[in-house]
Amino acid sequence: METMKIETSTKEYPLYIGEDIRFEIGEIINRLPSAITSILIITDDKVAPLYLKDIKSSINKEHLVHEYIVPNGEASKSFQTYYDIQGFALEKGLDRRALIIALGGGVVGDLAGFVAATFMRGIAFVQVPTTLLAHDSSVGGKVAINHPLGKNMIGAFYQPEAVIYDTNTLQTLPEHEWRSGFAEVIKHGFIWDHQFLSWIKENIHSFAEIKGDLAQHLLRRSISVKAAVVKEDETEKGIRAFLNFGHTLAHAIETNLGYGKITHGEAVVIGMVFALKVSEDYYKNDLNIPSIIEWLKKYNYNVSIPSQLNTEDLIKAMKKDKKSEEGIIRMVLLSEIGKVEVVSVSEDRLRAILS
Ligand SMILES: NC(=O)c1ccc[n+]([C@@H]2O[C@H](COP(=O)([O-])OP(=O)(O)OC[C@H]3O[C@@H](n4cnc5c(N)ncnc54)[C@H](O)[C@@H]3O)[C@@H](O)[C@H]2O)c1
Repeated sequence: METMKIETSTKEYPLYIGEDIRFEIGEIINRLPSAITSILIITDDKVAPLYLKDIKSSINKEHLVHEYIVPNGEASKSFQTYYDIQGFALEKGLDRRALIIALGGGVVGDLAGFVAATFMRGIAFVQVPTTLLAHDSSVGGKVAINHPLGKNMIGAFYQPEAVIYDTNTLQTLPEHEWRSGFAEVIKHGFIWDHQFLSWIKENIHSFAEIKGDLAQHLLRRSISVKAAVVKEDETEKGIRAFLNFGHTLAHAIETNLGYGKITHGEAVVIGMVFALKVSEDYYKNDLNIPSIIEWLKKYNYNVSIPSQLNTEDLIKAMKKDKKSEEGIIRMVLLSEIGKVEVVSVSEDRLRAILS
């Protein structure tokens, strides 16, 4: 097991990464600085049959452990589920020294983290990510639920006590979830580290290869980028917005298609290709997009905007993006691979590139 340090302006916490470390969760929890009264494990109905028993069996018998299982998928990041869990926690008598364990992907992490952030004005929580994408979502303390008018609109910055990442849990992920999470890995290369991007191109030819030492290396490097960004800017006043590369269009696609119709990462890849095109248009640089598209297609990514979506609806949704200012769309663009900035872009140029 390796330990990485996640530092933000409000908190420093460990991220443990290794194979089969889910069996050590009990021990890690026992080492947390403050004493715990009871534990609530929040997970979903796909992850529960796979890993809930392992987690529970690793926890010391003297802790009272409750579990709350939500339906898998984006729809669980809702007011109703959030409210139901709060009610459950109150009924079970959780107090301010209770601990929440978020066992699952980004949906469970965001939802359980927001419950933890607000239950009795904030109780401790631990992230136990089980998807590739969650190497990103479990680090940095953004927790949220969705509003029908926008994704992640109701949330908080709330850091966990620890992140415990058992890379062996990834082996049960379906192919499309690998594809989804891998998009965020690639994104970290694009925005921060061109050498990492080249390393990925040279070393990862298929998702099936991502295990053992290769998985550890890939994930540690990708997490390092996220950690470096949140260290400098925890609450997205500045460079944290760089992590939004590809997300302006991706969120618009997800909103217009309906949550859950396309995986987040698959939408991000379409958004990144679009952002590369807007970058070339803006900077008049050459990012070699055809070869990037060819490479992305090797992982079976679709790089085109779903045909049922129309340009005006996408523009409208992009204007609602959190980076927009006074209705002007702002996007994260690349002046070169590894160098980004947030730029206001003309709606007409976007319309032209979109169509
Ligand atoms: N907080 C952040 O900084 C941040 C960053 C990026 C994305 N997100 C959020 O993360 C969410 C997406 O996360 P996700 O892609 O992990 O989705 P997810 O949590 O819905 O997981 C994807 C699917 O995989 C299943 N699953 C999870 N672990 C599994 C395993 N080990 N084996 C088999 N199946 C497994 C889940 O049940 C689900 O059906 C979105 O809501 C997005 O907004 C948050």
